Amino acid sequence: MPARTRNILIIMGSVREGRRCPAIAAWVAARRPTSLNCEVVDLKDWHLPMDDETAIPATGVYANDHTRAWSAKVAGADGFVIVTPQYNWGYPAPLKNALDHLYDEWKAKPLMLVTYGGHGGDKCAKQLRTVAKGLNMKTVWTSPALTITRAQILGAPFDAEHDLKRHVPKVKRAWRQLENALR
Ligand SMILES: Cc1cc2nc3c(=O)[nH]c(=O)nc-3n(C[C@H](O)[C@H](O)[C@H](O)COP(=O)(O)O)c2cc1C
Repeated sequence: MPARTRNILIIMGSVREGRRCPAIAAWVAARRPTSLNCEVVDLKDWHLPMDDETAIPATGVYANDHTRAWSAKVAGADGFVIVTPQYNWGYPAPLKNALDHLYDEWKAKPLMLVTYGGHGGDKCAKQLRTVAKGLNMKTVWTSPALTITRAQILGAPFDAEHDLKRHVPKVKRAWRQLENALR
């Protein structure tokens, strides 16, 4: 029997106006192995208030439709890619909120981390790796850290195809590790 096609959610960490994240997430998605189905998830589309669930997520008891919808979305995925900028040596709050809304839905699933920033976002990758361990996820070893220039951070044009070219081998290596972790 042919292997089932695996579904990967590519979760974008940034929700701010004028963000680079959609361009970078699309660039990462375009380098995926052909065996994987990918869907980019924009947390802007997911209304997840921080104060409206009374039970802790580890119980799996959700009072709200939006939490149940997020639960179904994540539970239906075989693995994840998080594409996120580094913000003040950490990662964006909406990403933590989206992770913390659930628990078992993430469990034992492979995760690939792609960070970006002036120095590649290595500090945010380290923090996310710790959080993913707390959620019992299987984070792949290779974590591409994409560098953007100071001028680009301040608004100079950014062309993912051109500006991220040198990161292609590492991104492909991370994808291969994710693919293998799904077996
Ligand atoms: C709130 C905030 C904090 C930032 N902190 C860092 C940082 O710690 N390190 C870094 O290299 N870049 C930092 N930057 C610059 C971001 O790497 C850059 O703006 C990037 O484009 C942000 O991703 P986004 O455009 O998808 O939101 C920060 C940007 C913002 C908006």
